[in-house]
Amino acid sequence: MSKPSILAFGTYDDWDMEPMQSKFTVHQFPASGNCADLDEAARDQITAFAFKGHSNLGADIIDAFPNVKLIANYGVGYDTIDVVYASSKGIKVTNTPDVLTNDVADLAIGMLIALNRGIVGADDWVRSGNWANGPYPLGRTLSGVSVGIAGLGRIGRSVATRLQGFETNIHYYSRSKKETPGWTYHNDLVELATAVDVLIVTVSGGSDTVQIISKEVINALGTDGLLVNVARGSTVDEEALINSLEKKAIRGFASDVFNNEPNIDERFLTLDNVLLQPHQSSGTIETRKRIGKLQHDNLQAFFTKKPLITPVN
Ligand code: 8YV
Repeated sequence: MSKPSILAFGTYDDWDMEPMQSKFTVHQFPASGNCADLDEAARDQITAFAFKGHSNLGADIIDAFPNVKLIANYGVGYDTIDVVYASSKGIKVTNTPDVLTNDVADLAIGMLIALNRGIVGADDWVRSGNWANGPYPLGRTLSGVSVGIAGLGRIGRSVATRLQGFETNIHYYSRSKKETPGWTYHNDLVELATAVDVLIVTVSGGSDTVQIISKEVINALGTDGLLVNVARGSTVDEEALINSLEKKAIRGFASDVFNNEPNIDERFLTLDNVLLQPHQSSGTIETRKRIGKLQHDNLQAFFTKKPLITPVN
């Protein structure tokens, strides 16, 4: 029996590509981004997408593949996939929850400590020989401060659980109050930002959360406040944020995610109160293997007519 044809978006490590190629005929989404660069016969054969990356996957691409019935996303967030349109065409979408939660939470904590203690600058202080001329500027403590989590889903909860180890006071915002071990609920983000020293963004991306970290929320954090983002760049009003950082109206910003990645707003590069990461929170060998395997298992489930493992719609 011939292997089913799939379309792979983005680049995959060998440990993902080899199993994919053993089960499927894998076509690569054209580097030009133009579906017409794939011949029509190949497009007709493709019944599933292995989607990776953060480009837009909307009606224009979906319609170029009349027989596609599954979009298997490599990642938990699917904000760039038009799920409503996919559903209207009877196309199932899957994602990869849980397997990356720990690593994303770890990086949020790592960035927070690095920003608060100036770890990146301190390394440079030693390398550049500055240490011999005097001590490195003092950092700030994390233990005992109040930390707000915007979005208490899997990742938010995992971040909060780690923060308990630092004896912080945990506050959170989510659409509804959750069962928690004594964390303080706020149904308003300005109220949350007012109550805390550090705000960590863990909400899902997508139209519901565009710029929910607004100018008002940033102002409410105040001159001593820190903002950490491991969600999506779209959740933050970057214009207002850069303005506040330039004026030192907030103390600092650490982020793994930005608008228009990887071509982020260049003003971030000139600021000394930011810590910038290249969207790498799930970027460990162990976790990336687990993400790839879950994407593969969803594809396999689809082609063997078994229930999808982690369906979105
Ligand atoms: C991806 C992510 O795994 O899972 C997500 O939603 O943002 C990432 O951690 C990574 O960007 C690969 O596409």
